[in-house]
Amino acid sequence: MMTEGQKKPFNVREIRDEFPALRQQIYGKNLIYFDNGATSQKPQVVLDAINRYYSKDNANIHRGVHHLSQKATTEYEESRKLIQQYINARKLDEVIFTKGTTDGINLVASSFGELLSTGDEIIISAMEHHSNIVPWQMLCERKNLKLRVIPINKKGEIIMEEYEKLLSSKTKLVAVTHISNTLGTVNPIKEMAQKAHAVGSRILVDGAQSIQHLPIDVLELECDFFVFSGHKVFGPTGIGVLYGKEDLLDRMPPYQGGGDMIAKVTFEKTTYNDLPFKFEAGTPHIAGGICLGEAVRYLSSIDMQAAMKHEKDLADYAQHLLDTFEGMQIIGEAKQKTSVVSFVMEGIHPFDIGTLLDKQGIAVRTGHHCTQPLMDFFNIPGTVRASFAFYNTRQEVEYFIEAFEKSINMLK
Ligand code: ALA
Repeated sequence: MMTEGQKKPFNVREIRDEFPALRQQIYGKNLIYFDNGATSQKPQVVLDAINRYYSKDNANIHRGVHHLSQKATTEYEESRKLIQQYINARKLDEVIFTKGTTDGINLVASSFGELLSTGDEIIISAMEHHSNIVPWQMLCERKNLKLRVIPINKKGEIIMEEYEKLLSSKTKLVAVTHISNTLGTVNPIKEMAQKAHAVGSRILVDGAQSIQHLPIDVLELECDFFVFSGHKVFGPTGIGVLYGKEDLLDRMPPYQGGGDMIAKVTFEKTTYNDLPFKFEAGTPHIAGGICLGEAVRYLSSIDMQAAMKHEKDLADYAQHLLDTFEGMQIIGEAKQKTSVVSFVMEGIHPFDIGTLLDKQGIAVRTGHHCTQPLMDFFNIPGTVRASFAFYNTRQEVEYFIEAFEKSINMLK
């Protein structure tokens, strides 16, 4: 049995054995799952935890004196603790359970947004996912704030000089993705955080695409908020996390009202619960929270440095092989890039390539990837995106390239 903190040597074959979904065939071909940017597959330990919770332990939390309720509460709160340790948050009450990344950003936009007033500015980047654009647009409209956008260069990198020009004493929040879901660009978060703090702004990091690829240390990143989804990190859908600095969360009003987020309710006045419960109204996704803890426990057993290297090698290898095709345009060639290869082929629609790859058992995502402004910047309707996880292999990349060649020959 592994002890706490012990890492297994990185072995992709052994890792694959832990993911039953990878053992299936699609249209008679072995599944090659290259859509990890959309969601990751689940290891057996997470599947077992879901089954165990609903088969035996199902009860509501924070509400019952009975055995099952206490057990579910303990497991849910233990999971919060595991997540706190995993992201290196100072305090347990800085870890808020949400429905996912989008929900976390909306929580901050709604609640932190209440502390802002006319003329204040929010900065995002040109490579953001819609979920890190639209909530800020809605807030800006509601509170008469200004939304400013950091431009990127043709490689898909933030132009830091332009970012510096946008920062001022009016900036109250910078909301930026850690890794672009479309380009794979890894943004220099720590440097951006320091620059934001220098003008008195806060920074929110969209960690939806980084949590499964990089070791995350919110103190090292110097961020004020960090949001991510459970399903991208080998856990269930419908659960996610908002990390926020305690002093900020304390000052922010509740997001939603209901059970669990209150201290005392009368018809005249309601007082609110302490953190983190102030932001967790209603019965949460209890199984999700517990099983996200299981996913984090699983991830903690993986040698992340070796996994990162493996994923980067796969992406570099795929990009190198794709680049040899005439008419190929790789979208996103940042120096700091990981685990994603997005591309377009001259004269062929991404959707057609995706459909033919699917018939050969290969799952990729095609389209705008919820980054329409980014597609406009590159003047393309969409891309084919292969996004890798540590359970993918070089052989899968080679088969993908063969299947891709077959597909484009059919479509030409
Ligand atoms: N945001 C997810 C993706 O990039 C769904 O595919």
